[in-house]
Amino acid sequence: MLNFSYFAPTKVVFGKGAEVETANLLKEFGAKRVLVHYGTGSVVKSGLLDKITECLEDAGIYYVKLGGAVPNPRLSLVYEGIKLAKEEKIDFILAVGGGSAIDSAKGIGYGVANDGDVWDFYEGKRKAKACLPVGVVLTLSATGSEMSSSSVITKEEGWLKRGYNSDLSRPKFAVMNPELTMTLPDYQTACGCADICMHTMERYFTNNPGLDLTDALAEGLLKTVMKNALILVKDPKNYDARAEVMWAGSLSHNGLTGLGNDGGDWMTHKMEHEIGGLFDVAHGAGLAAIWGSWARYVYKECLPRFKKYAVNVMGIENKGTDEEIAIKGIEATEDFFRKIKMPTNLNELGIKATDEDLHTMARKCAEGVGGAKGAAKLLKEEDMYRIYKASAGE
Ligand code: NZQ
Ligand code: ZN
Repeated sequence: MLNFSYFAPTKVVFGKGAEVETANLLKEFGAKRVLVHYGTGSVVKSGLLDKITECLEDAGIYYVKLGGAVPNPRLSLVYEGIKLAKEEKIDFILAVGGGSAIDSAKGIGYGVANDGDVWDFYEGKRKAKACLPVGVVLTLSATGSEMSSSSVITKEEGWLKRGYNSDLSRPKFAVMNPELTMTLPDYQTACGCADICMHTMERYFTNNPGLDLTDALAEGLLKTVMKNALILVKDPKNYDARAEVMWAGSLSHNGLTGLGNDGGDWMTHKMEHEIGGLFDVAHGAGLAAIWGSWARYVYKECLPRFKKYAVNVMGIENKGTDEEIAIKGIEATEDFFRKIKMPTNLNELGIKATDEDLHTMARKCAEGVGGAKGAAKLLKEEDMYRIYKASAGE
């Protein structure tokens, strides 16, 4: 087991009706002037935003609202939020929504608490010294941003989608009522389940020999998400299935399922970020579309882990060569994606990428990771291009 530090400071309030605790939580964390940040309308339509702002008014907490965080949230809105927050002397940001609203809130938090251009952090030019405190009312189980250190923002100029990780932005609290996810379109529910699986798979597929507890947590989480994702395909209003998925989403990306391992692979995510940047697709769908091509490209160099995954997570019989078992595990994962109506290649994702697009994504991805990355197999630009090409069916 490698050395690790684990920092999961987010206070979680989970269950039916949990959102009524929002004002109390804001007070607990000293919020006096709050920016309520949200997406493009789902929380307005569902009535959640009114419910939250009424709670704030009743509690005498000053707030201003800023909506408009689109999927793959944009840098221009982060700048707008920074300006507004400074004018209004905001001391706390409350994100109401999914990963995009949360990540945008974190971006605003960095921008207010540090001098200079906030994009510098996302470009890896310098590190943030502080972040305004962020709290979350979660409406979509997917990114784990409600407990994670990450924020992913897209800069419109050049369509660069880049992430910045710092413990400074881990939310102070996360309000999680699984009922709030029941208004989601089925497609978004499935995208979320794919993303949750992938956060743990990224940590699982490394060339470390493996760990009893961390692997058992990862495998248990993956089996839980897959089982309940299938239930939700048939029964989207199933509260318990939504609750299992919601809690798994937070644990999949707060560090727990990779402790003592070597930090993970993360190339499926990095490659998806280029797809999302260029074609503006839903993150979870983009991950599902690229994973199979990535897995087939790397599995031989990470065989013990692919075999263990096949047997322990996908229930493949431990019979035949290790390679045969690994491939069956990859096929079973793609079957799972199909069953929840997720794409397994770029065509199914609805993308008609030209060869130039594939090269562009590979180049930007390689630049974004500083040349090469990957723990299952170290990938360079040429490898990334081949994976994109395989996913494009060429
Ligand atoms: O914008 P609104 O109107 O709210 O609609 C959203 C959006 O269209 C809708 N939605 C959310 N909750 C809903 C709802 N519709 C009905 N009922 C509800 N309860 O769903 C759509 C997608 O929302 P979004 O927030 O974009 O999705 P998600 O949570 O998947 O976030 C995706 C973003 O997070 C990044 C992704 O790359 C992408 O940019 N990620 C962030 C991470 C992190 N911060 O830790 C890690 C991830 O790996 C990921 O990269
Ligand atoms: Zn993700």
